[in-house]
Amino acid sequence: MSDASPPADVPSVRSVRASFEERLGAEALSLAVRGGLSRAEVQEAHTAFLGKRHGLVTGLLAALKTVPPAERAAYGAEVNALKREIEARLTELENAVATREAEAARIARSVDVTLPPRRVPVGRFHPLTVVRRRIEDTFRGLGYEVADGPEVETDWYNFESLNFPPDHPARDAFDTFFIKGGGSSRDRLLLRTHTSPVQMRTMESTKPPIRILVPGRVFRKDDIDPRHSPVFHQVEGLAVDEGITFAHLRGTLAAFARGFFSDRAEVRFGPTFFPFVEPGVDVAISCVFCEKRGCRICSGSGWIEIMGAGMVHPHVLEAAGIDPERYTGFAFGMGVDRIAMLVYGIPDLRLLFENDVRFLDRAWQ
Ligand code: PHE
Repeated sequence: MSDASPPADVPSVRSVRASFEERLGAEALSLAVRGGLSRAEVQEAHTAFLGKRHGLVTGLLAALKTVPPAERAAYGAEVNALKREIEARLTELENAVATREAEAARIARSVDVTLPPRRVPVGRFHPLTVVRRRIEDTFRGLGYEVADGPEVETDWYNFESLNFPPDHPARDAFDTFFIKGGGSSRDRLLLRTHTSPVQMRTMESTKPPIRILVPGRVFRKDDIDPRHSPVFHQVEGLAVDEGITFAHLRGTLAAFARGFFSDRAEVRFGPTFFPFVEPGVDVAISCVFCEKRGCRICSGSGWIEIMGAGMVHPHVLEAAGIDPERYTGFAFGMGVDRIAMLVYGIPDLRLLFENDVRFLDRAWQ
């Protein structure tokens, strides 16, 4: 192809091709693929060669009208060929840059599977829940069913039907939150001070044989300190049937102590008074920490008191409509908070109620 002569002030077609080659030559495509050539550089070249106002190729075309008519066709063909060549190369480079950019964006968005995972916070059971469930499981294994009753109780169920006569001093042991006064004990409302009212409710509604376990919240007007809280938790047990004796109570609680605390745990009974049982006992287990040698936890005695118990008082059976000549029964009541503190070595009762996640997050089991 001849180099048609352009006007003197216009560069030759050959020199424009050479300057394009210099700018975006044989290396350009591989640079575009590998990231050594930017989209901006390709666009700048586009403007420099094909731009409407100052593009070099545009300038060559504009010079067409000044080329002598005899050379015009050849010149025009040559400039157009160069223009198509440059357009094709620029398109190719633009595509390469676009592909590379899309790939880089995809990598930036994608998941890096080698990064350590974010820790997902998981909930845990509260230590009181864990202990309550373990107590329930131990007694379920002995044939007990779980029951419950209201937290707002009448004086009748909380006290009077349980053989606490009005003005009896035994009531003083319970600093009671009264909610509503009233002439009769069935009208007076209070927050239950123990789970024992559910004994009465169950005996009224169920015929013996009865074997129930009653976990629940109870309330007493105690000031908050490391060992006291106005809200705490108990588990009540009740068994009523023909021929139930004190030996059954002893055997049941010994089985519980072995199942819940340790194979080697023993129980010891000491006499005490609760109006709704006769006889009434305090129940201690042998200290599971020192095996009766005496340690700080059992205050050197080798024994830890964990519940009250006794044979259901005949007055209570009668008040429930159960014939005390035919049926006998036993009952027991334990403090869940105290047992949780014991088994986990929790030094302060308040930790159970403050919901500090540093405490809750421990793996209680
Ligand atoms: N209700 C008694 C208390 O809260 C415990 C208890 C329950 C005692 C059952 C004897 C029988 O102290």
